Amino acid sequence: MHNTVAVHNDLFYIGGNDRRISLFESAYPVPRGVSYNSYLLLDEKTVLFDTVDLAVSEVFFDNLAFLLKDRPLDCVVIHHMEPDHSDSFARLLEKYPNVRVIANQKTAQMLSNYYGFDSSRAHVVKEGDTFSSGKHTLRFVFAPMVHWPEVMFTYDETSQTLFSADAFGTFGALGGSIFADEVNFERDWLDDARRYYLNIVGKYGVQVQNALKKAAGLKISAVCPLHGPVWRKDFDRFLAKYSVWSGYQPEEKGVVVFYASVYGHTQNAAEILATELVKAGVKQVKTYDVSVTHVSELLSEAFRYSHAVFAATTYNNAIFPSMENLLRELQSHGFKNRKFAVIENGSWAAQSGGLMQAILTAMPNVTQIGEKATVLSAVNANSRASLEALAGEIAKDFLA
Ligand code: FEO
Repeated sequence: MHNTVAVHNDLFYIGGNDRRISLFESAYPVPRGVSYNSYLLLDEKTVLFDTVDLAVSEVFFDNLAFLLKDRPLDCVVIHHMEPDHSDSFARLLEKYPNVRVIANQKTAQMLSNYYGFDSSRAHVVKEGDTFSSGKHTLRFVFAPMVHWPEVMFTYDETSQTLFSADAFGTFGALGGSIFADEVNFERDWLDDARRYYLNIVGKYGVQVQNALKKAAGLKISAVCPLHGPVWRKDFDRFLAKYSVWSGYQPEEKGVVVFYASVYGHTQNAAEILATELVKAGVKQVKTYDVSVTHVSELLSEAFRYSHAVFAATTYNNAIFPSMENLLRELQSHGFKNRKFAVIENGSWAAQSGGLMQAILTAMPNVTQIGEKATVLSAVNANSRASLEALAGEIAKDFLA
Protein backbone atom coordinates (compact mmCIF):
# COMPACT_ATOMS: atom_id res chain seq x y z
CA MET A 1 0.00 0.00 0.00
CA HIS A 2 1.21 3.49 -0.85
CA ASN A 3 2.98 5.67 1.72
CA THR A 4 4.03 9.02 0.24
CA VAL A 5 4.98 12.44 1.61
CA ALA A 6 4.79 15.81 -0.15
CA VAL A 7 8.10 17.67 -0.21
CA HIS A 8 6.65 20.62 -2.16
CA ASN A 9 3.25 21.09 -3.81
CA ASP A 10 4.20 18.94 -6.75
CA LEU A 11 7.19 16.95 -5.47
CA PHE A 12 6.71 13.76 -3.48
CA TYR A 13 8.87 11.37 -1.52
CA ILE A 14 8.15 7.84 -2.74
CA GLY A 15 11.03 5.80 -1.25
CA GLY A 16 11.05 3.16 1.46
CA ASN A 17 12.94 1.77 4.46
CA ASP A 18 14.80 -1.46 5.13
CA ARG A 19 15.17 -2.28 8.83
CA ARG A 20 16.01 -5.95 8.27
CA ILE A 21 19.28 -5.38 6.45
CA SER A 22 22.23 -6.28 8.67
CA LEU A 23 25.13 -5.07 6.50
CA PHE A 24 24.68 -2.20 4.06
CA GLU A 25 26.84 -2.86 0.98
CA SER A 26 27.78 -6.14 2.71
CA ALA A 27 30.13 -4.03 4.83
CA TYR A 28 28.46 -1.61 7.23
CA PRO A 29 26.19 -2.54 10.16
CA VAL A 30 23.00 -0.48 10.09
CA PRO A 31 21.19 -1.18 13.35
CA ARG A 32 18.83 1.71 12.62
CA GLY A 33 18.18 0.44 9.09
CA VAL A 34 18.51 2.51 5.96
CA SER A 35 16.17 4.43 3.67
CA TYR A 36 16.25 4.33 -0.12
CA ASN A 37 14.87 7.65 -1.26
CA SER A 38 13.14 8.35 -4.53
CA TYR A 39 11.15 11.42 -5.54
CA LEU A 40 8.39 12.07 -8.07
CA LEU A 41 7.72 15.46 -9.65
CA LEU A 42 4.18 15.89 -11.00
CA ASP A 43 4.64 18.71 -13.47
CA GLU A 44 3.32 18.94 -17.03
CA LYS A 45 5.65 16.01 -17.51
CA THR A 46 5.99 13.48 -14.71
CA VAL A 47 9.61 13.02 -13.62
CA LEU A 48 10.94 10.31 -11.35
CA PHE A 49 14.27 10.91 -9.61
CA ASP A 50 16.01 7.53 -9.15
CA THR A 51 14.58 4.17 -8.27
CA VAL A 52 15.23 2.10 -5.13
CA ASP A 53 16.80 -1.08 -3.83
CA LEU A 54 14.75 -4.21 -4.52
CA ALA A 55 14.16 -4.55 -0.76
CA VAL A 56 11.70 -1.65 -0.90
CA SER A 57 10.52 -1.86 -4.48
CA GLU A 58 7.00 -2.96 -3.60
CA VAL A 59 6.11 0.19 -1.70
CA PHE A 60 8.02 2.26 -4.28
CA PHE A 61 5.92 0.94 -7.18
CA ASP A 62 2.73 1.29 -5.11
CA ASN A 63 3.68 4.91 -4.41
CA LEU A 64 4.48 5.59 -8.04
CA ALA A 65 1.20 4.12 -9.32
CA PHE A 66 -0.79 5.91 -6.61
CA LEU A 67 0.59 9.34 -7.46
CA LEU A 68 0.58 8.93 -11.23
CA LYS A 69 -3.02 7.71 -11.19
CA ASP A 70 -3.80 7.46 -14.91
CA ARG A 71 -0.91 9.67 -16.05
CA PRO A 72 2.10 8.16 -17.83
CA LEU A 73 5.57 8.25 -16.32
CA ASP A 74 7.33 10.56 -18.75
CA CYS A 75 10.91 10.64 -17.47
CA VAL A 76 13.26 9.07 -14.99
CA VAL A 77 16.49 10.83 -13.99
CA ILE A 78 19.22 8.47 -12.83
CA HIS A 79 21.67 10.29 -10.56
CA HIS A 80 23.64 7.33 -9.32
CA MET A 81 23.94 3.84 -10.74
CA GLU A 82 24.85 1.95 -7.59
CA PRO A 83 22.30 -0.85 -7.30
CA ASP A 84 20.92 0.36 -3.96
CA HIS A 85 19.29 3.02 -6.17
CA SER A 86 19.08 1.43 -9.60
CA ASP A 87 18.03 -2.10 -8.70
CA SER A 88 14.40 -1.43 -9.61
CA PHE A 89 15.31 0.15 -12.95
CA ALA A 90 14.72 -2.96 -15.07
CA ARG A 91 11.32 -3.50 -13.49
CA LEU A 92 10.52 0.17 -13.99
CA LEU A 93 11.14 -0.23 -17.74
CA GLU A 94 8.88 -3.27 -17.82
CA LYS A 95 6.07 -1.34 -16.14
CA TYR A 96 6.67 1.96 -17.95
CA PRO A 97 8.29 0.98 -21.27
CA ASN A 98 7.92 4.43 -22.81
CA VAL A 99 9.66 6.32 -20.01
CA ARG A 100 12.41 8.65 -21.18
CA VAL A 101 15.65 7.80 -19.36
CA ILE A 102 17.63 10.95 -18.53
CA ALA A 103 21.23 10.13 -17.71
CA ASN A 104 24.77 11.11 -18.47
CA GLN A 105 26.94 9.06 -20.82
CA LYS A 106 28.64 7.07 -18.05
CA THR A 107 25.31 6.24 -16.46
CA ALA A 108 23.83 5.13 -19.78
CA GLN A 109 26.77 2.76 -20.23
CA MET A 110 26.41 1.40 -16.72
CA LEU A 111 22.67 0.88 -17.22
CA SER A 112 23.60 -1.19 -20.22
CA ASN A 113 26.23 -3.16 -18.27
CA TYR A 114 23.99 -3.84 -15.31
CA TYR A 115 20.55 -4.25 -16.86
CA GLY A 116 21.06 -4.76 -20.60
CA PHE A 117 19.55 -1.32 -21.24
CA ASP A 118 19.82 -0.10 -24.82
CA SER A 119 21.92 2.99 -24.06
CA SER A 120 21.11 4.51 -27.47
CA ARG A 121 17.60 5.25 -26.20
CA ALA A 122 18.87 7.33 -23.26
CA HIS A 123 18.36 11.09 -23.21
CA VAL A 124 22.02 11.86 -22.55
CA VAL A 125 22.80 15.06 -20.66
CA LYS A 126 26.02 16.95 -20.11
CA GLU A 127 27.19 19.17 -17.27
CA GLY A 128 24.97 22.25 -17.05
CA ASP A 129 22.32 20.99 -19.48
CA THR A 130 18.74 21.83 -18.60
CA PHE A 131 15.47 20.05 -19.13
CA SER A 132 12.01 21.57 -18.83
CA SER A 133 9.27 19.45 -17.33
CA GLY A 134 6.77 22.30 -17.75
CA LYS A 135 6.89 24.76 -14.86
CA HIS A 136 10.16 23.33 -13.60
CA THR A 137 13.57 23.73 -15.15
CA LEU A 138 15.97 20.99 -14.15
CA ARG A 139 19.70 21.62 -14.37
CA PHE A 140 22.18 18.76 -14.26
CA VAL A 141 25.29 19.20 -12.15
CA PHE A 142 27.97 16.54 -12.39
CA ALA A 143 29.49 15.27 -9.13
CA PRO A 144 31.94 12.56 -10.17
CA MET A 145 33.18 10.24 -7.40
CA VAL A 146 30.53 11.34 -4.95
CA HIS A 147 30.49 8.36 -4.74
CA TRP A 148 30.88 6.72 -8.18
CA PRO A 149 32.22 8.32 -11.37
CA GLU A 150 28.84 8.73 -13.04
CA VAL A 151 27.17 10.58 -10.15
CA MET A 152 25.30 13.77 -10.94
CA PHE A 153 22.97 16.07 -9.03
CA THR A 154 19.87 17.77 -10.37
CA TYR A 155 19.06 21.32 -9.37
CA ASP A 156 15.44 22.29 -9.86
CA GLU A 157 15.80 25.99 -10.63
CA THR A 158 12.09 26.61 -10.15
CA SER A 159 11.68 25.20 -6.65
CA GLN A 160 15.39 25.58 -5.74
CA THR A 161 15.55 21.93 -4.82
CA LEU A 162 18.83 20.04 -5.01
CA PHE A 163 18.69 16.29 -5.66
CA SER A 164 22.05 15.38 -4.21
CA ALA A 165 22.44 11.61 -4.82
CA ASP A 166 24.53 10.01 -2.03
CA ALA A 167 25.77 13.40 -0.81
CA PHE A 168 24.13 14.53 2.44
CA GLY A 169 22.77 11.03 2.97
CA THR A 170 22.89 9.04 6.20
CA PHE A 171 22.39 5.55 7.50
CA GLY A 172 19.13 5.14 9.41
CA ALA A 173 15.58 4.40 8.35
CA LEU A 174 13.07 7.22 8.19
CA GLY A 175 10.02 6.91 10.32
CA GLY A 176 7.10 9.29 10.72
CA SER A 177 8.88 12.34 9.38
CA ILE A 178 11.16 12.44 6.38
CA PHE A 179 12.40 15.97 7.21
CA ALA A 180 15.58 16.83 9.10
CA ASP A 181 13.80 19.79 10.72
CA GLU A 182 11.22 17.46 12.26
CA VAL A 183 13.73 15.15 13.97
CA ASN A 184 16.54 15.84 16.43
CA PHE A 185 19.24 15.50 13.81
CA GLU A 186 22.21 16.40 16.03
CA ARG A 187 21.18 13.93 18.71
CA ASP A 188 19.73 11.08 16.67
CA TRP A 189 21.28 11.26 13.20
CA LEU A 190 24.62 13.01 13.17
CA ASP A 191 26.69 10.00 14.28
CA ASP A 192 25.16 7.89 11.50
CA ALA A 193 25.61 10.72 9.00
CA ARG A 194 29.30 10.99 9.90
CA ARG A 195 29.82 7.24 9.74
CA TYR A 196 27.99 7.10 6.40
CA TYR A 197 29.99 9.96 4.89
CA LEU A 198 33.42 8.92 6.12
CA ASN A 199 33.10 5.25 5.23
CA ILE A 200 31.26 5.55 1.94
CA VAL A 201 32.36 8.82 0.40
CA GLY A 202 35.24 9.78 2.71
CA LYS A 203 37.98 8.69 0.35
CA TYR A 204 36.83 11.28 -2.19
CA GLY A 205 37.22 14.49 -0.20
CA VAL A 206 38.61 16.50 -3.12
CA GLN A 207 35.70 15.53 -5.35
CA VAL A 208 33.22 16.29 -2.55
CA GLN A 209 34.80 19.73 -2.10
CA ASN A 210 34.42 20.33 -5.83
CA ALA A 211 30.74 19.41 -5.61
CA LEU A 212 30.31 21.65 -2.54
CA LYS A 213 31.78 24.57 -4.51
CA LYS A 214 29.16 24.03 -7.21
CA ALA A 215 26.39 23.77 -4.59
CA ALA A 216 27.63 26.91 -2.81
CA GLY A 217 26.49 29.06 -5.72
CA LEU A 218 22.93 27.77 -5.61
CA LYS A 219 19.95 29.12 -3.72
CA ILE A 220 18.60 26.06 -1.95
CA SER A 221 15.15 25.60 -0.44
CA ALA A 222 15.38 21.81 -0.10
CA VAL A 223 18.00 19.10 -0.41
CA CYS A 224 16.75 15.64 -1.35
CA PRO A 225 19.42 12.98 -0.83
CA LEU A 226 19.15 9.29 -1.70
CA HIS A 227 19.37 8.18 1.95
CA GLY A 228 18.07 9.77 5.14
CA PRO A 229 16.20 12.97 5.87
CA VAL A 230 15.26 15.72 3.43
CA TRP A 231 16.61 19.17 4.32
CA ARG A 232 14.39 22.26 4.27
CA LYS A 233 15.91 24.34 7.09
CA ASP A 234 19.32 24.89 8.65
CA PHE A 235 21.05 23.07 5.81
CA ASP A 236 24.09 25.29 6.34
CA ARG A 237 24.85 23.46 9.58
CA PHE A 238 25.03 20.13 7.80
CA LEU A 239 26.92 21.67 4.90
CA ALA A 240 29.51 22.94 7.39
CA LYS A 241 30.02 19.38 8.65
CA TYR A 242 30.57 18.21 5.08
CA SER A 243 33.10 20.94 4.58
CA VAL A 244 35.08 19.78 7.65
CA TRP A 245 34.79 16.10 6.81
CA SER A 246 35.75 16.47 3.16
CA GLY A 247 38.62 18.77 4.17
CA TYR A 248 39.97 15.99 6.41
CA GLN A 249 40.01 18.35 9.37
CA PRO A 250 39.16 17.19 12.90
CA GLU A 251 35.58 17.94 13.78
CA GLU A 252 36.34 18.19 17.52
CA LYS A 253 39.27 18.43 19.85
CA GLY A 254 39.55 15.13 21.65
CA VAL A 255 41.65 12.03 22.17
CA VAL A 256 40.35 8.68 21.01
CA VAL A 257 42.18 5.65 22.41
CA PHE A 258 42.02 2.48 20.33
CA TYR A 259 43.34 -0.76 21.78
CA ALA A 260 43.69 -4.37 20.59
CA SER A 261 44.23 -6.66 23.55
CA VAL A 262 44.29 -10.46 23.87
CA TYR A 263 44.40 -11.06 27.63
CA GLY A 264 43.61 -7.60 28.92
CA HIS A 265 47.11 -6.23 29.51
CA THR A 266 47.14 -3.93 26.51
CA GLN A 267 43.66 -2.84 27.52
CA ASN A 268 45.04 -2.08 30.98
CA ALA A 269 47.82 0.03 29.45
CA ALA A 270 45.35 1.90 27.21
CA GLU A 271 43.01 2.59 30.12
CA ILE A 272 45.85 3.81 32.35
CA LEU A 273 46.84 6.23 29.60
CA ALA A 274 43.21 7.37 29.18
CA THR A 275 42.87 7.98 32.92
CA GLU A 276 46.13 9.90 33.06
CA LEU A 277 44.99 12.05 30.13
CA VAL A 278 41.85 13.07 31.99
CA LYS A 279 43.87 13.74 35.17
CA ALA A 280 46.10 15.98 33.08
CA GLY A 281 43.12 18.06 31.99
CA VAL A 282 42.06 16.49 28.68
CA LYS A 283 38.28 16.54 28.92
CA GLN A 284 37.30 14.66 25.78
CA VAL A 285 38.70 11.13 25.92
CA LYS A 286 37.03 8.06 24.40
CA THR A 287 38.29 4.48 24.45
CA TYR A 288 37.48 1.61 22.09
CA ASP A 289 38.36 -2.08 21.90
CA VAL A 290 39.00 -2.42 18.16
CA SER A 291 38.24 -6.15 18.26
CA VAL A 292 34.70 -5.46 19.48
CA THR A 293 33.54 -2.22 17.85
CA HIS A 294 32.91 -2.33 14.11
CA VAL A 295 35.69 -0.74 12.09
CA SER A 296 33.23 1.64 10.38
CA GLU A 297 32.54 3.22 13.77
CA LEU A 298 36.22 3.29 14.69
CA LEU A 299 37.08 5.01 11.44
CA SER A 300 34.36 7.56 12.01
CA GLU A 301 35.66 8.31 15.51
CA ALA A 302 39.28 8.54 14.34
CA PHE A 303 38.28 11.16 11.77
CA ARG A 304 36.11 12.98 14.31
CA TYR A 305 38.84 13.81 16.83
CA SER A 306 42.12 15.68 16.73
CA HIS A 307 44.26 13.07 18.53
CA ALA A 308 44.38 9.28 18.49
CA VAL A 309 46.26 6.66 20.50
CA PHE A 310 46.82 3.22 19.03
CA ALA A 311 47.65 0.43 21.51
CA ALA A 312 48.18 -3.06 20.15
CA THR A 313 49.75 -6.30 21.11
CA THR A 314 52.20 -8.00 18.77
CA TYR A 315 50.69 -11.00 17.01
CA ASN A 316 52.52 -13.35 14.62
CA ASN A 317 55.37 -10.83 14.56
CA ALA A 318 52.94 -8.22 13.32
CA ILE A 319 50.20 -5.86 14.51
CA PHE A 320 47.18 -7.57 16.05
CA PRO A 321 44.82 -8.11 13.07
CA SER A 322 41.88 -5.97 14.21
CA MET A 323 44.23 -3.01 14.79
CA GLU A 324 45.99 -3.56 11.48
CA ASN A 325 42.60 -3.59 9.79
CA LEU A 326 41.71 -0.24 11.38
CA LEU A 327 45.01 1.30 10.29
CA ARG A 328 44.60 0.03 6.71
CA GLU A 329 41.05 1.40 6.62
CA LEU A 330 42.33 4.79 7.80
CA GLN A 331 45.04 4.68 5.16
CA SER A 332 42.63 3.82 2.37
CA HIS A 333 40.21 6.57 3.43
CA GLY A 334 42.87 9.28 3.28
CA PHE A 335 43.40 9.84 7.02
CA LYS A 336 45.48 12.99 7.52
CA ASN A 337 46.03 16.10 9.64
CA ARG A 338 46.05 14.33 13.02
CA LYS A 339 48.34 13.72 15.99
CA PHE A 340 48.89 10.22 17.31
CA ALA A 341 50.71 8.20 19.94
CA VAL A 342 51.48 4.50 20.14
CA ILE A 343 51.56 1.80 22.81
CA GLU A 344 52.91 -1.63 21.97
CA ASN A 345 52.87 -4.90 23.84
CA GLY A 346 54.87 -8.08 23.24
CA SER A 347 55.76 -11.01 25.45
CA TRP A 348 59.03 -11.88 23.69
CA ALA A 349 59.41 -9.60 20.64
CA ALA A 350 57.40 -6.39 20.82
CA GLN A 351 57.08 -5.13 17.24
CA SER A 352 53.61 -3.71 16.88
CA GLY A 353 54.65 -0.17 17.87
CA GLY A 354 57.23 0.28 15.14
CA LEU A 355 54.92 -1.24 12.57
CA MET A 356 52.04 1.03 13.58
CA GLN A 357 54.32 4.06 13.50
CA ALA A 358 55.44 3.17 9.98
CA ILE A 359 51.86 3.04 8.69
CA LEU A 360 50.75 6.20 10.45
CA THR A 361 53.73 8.42 9.71
CA ALA A 362 53.38 7.63 6.00
CA MET A 363 50.02 9.43 6.03
CA PRO A 364 50.02 13.15 5.16
CA ASN A 365 50.47 15.49 8.12
CA VAL A 366 49.98 12.70 10.65
CA THR A 367 52.55 13.35 13.36
CA GLN A 368 53.59 11.37 16.37
CA ILE A 369 53.60 12.68 19.90
CA GLY A 370 56.33 11.28 22.14
CA GLU A 371 58.06 7.93 21.87
CA LYS A 372 56.10 4.70 21.70
CA ALA A 373 55.37 3.21 25.14
CA THR A 374 56.31 -0.44 25.44
CA VAL A 375 54.66 -3.03 27.67
CA LEU A 376 56.31 -6.42 28.07
CA SER A 377 53.38 -8.80 28.72
CA ALA A 378 51.82 -6.89 31.63
CA VAL A 379 52.12 -3.33 32.85
CA ASN A 380 54.77 -2.95 35.56
CA ALA A 381 56.22 0.05 37.37
CA ASN A 382 58.53 0.92 34.46
CA SER A 383 55.91 0.70 31.74
CA ARG A 384 53.40 2.50 33.93
CA ALA A 385 55.87 5.36 34.23
CA SER A 386 56.29 5.49 30.46
CA LEU A 387 52.50 5.53 30.02
CA GLU A 388 52.20 8.41 32.47
CA ALA A 389 54.96 10.28 30.65
CA LEU A 390 53.27 9.70 27.29
CA ALA A 391 49.93 10.90 28.68
CA GLY A 392 51.71 14.03 29.88
CA GLU A 393 53.14 14.72 26.42
CA ILE A 394 49.78 14.17 24.71
CA ALA A 395 48.06 16.44 27.23
CA LYS A 396 50.71 19.13 26.74
CA ASP A 397 50.16 19.07 22.98
CA PHE A 398 46.38 18.89 23.37
CA LEU A 399 46.15 21.80 25.80
CA ALA A 400 48.70 23.99 24.02
FE1 FEO B 1 23.57 4.89 -1.90
FE2 FEO B 1 26.61 5.01 -3.60
O1 FEO B 1 24.90 4.41 -3.20
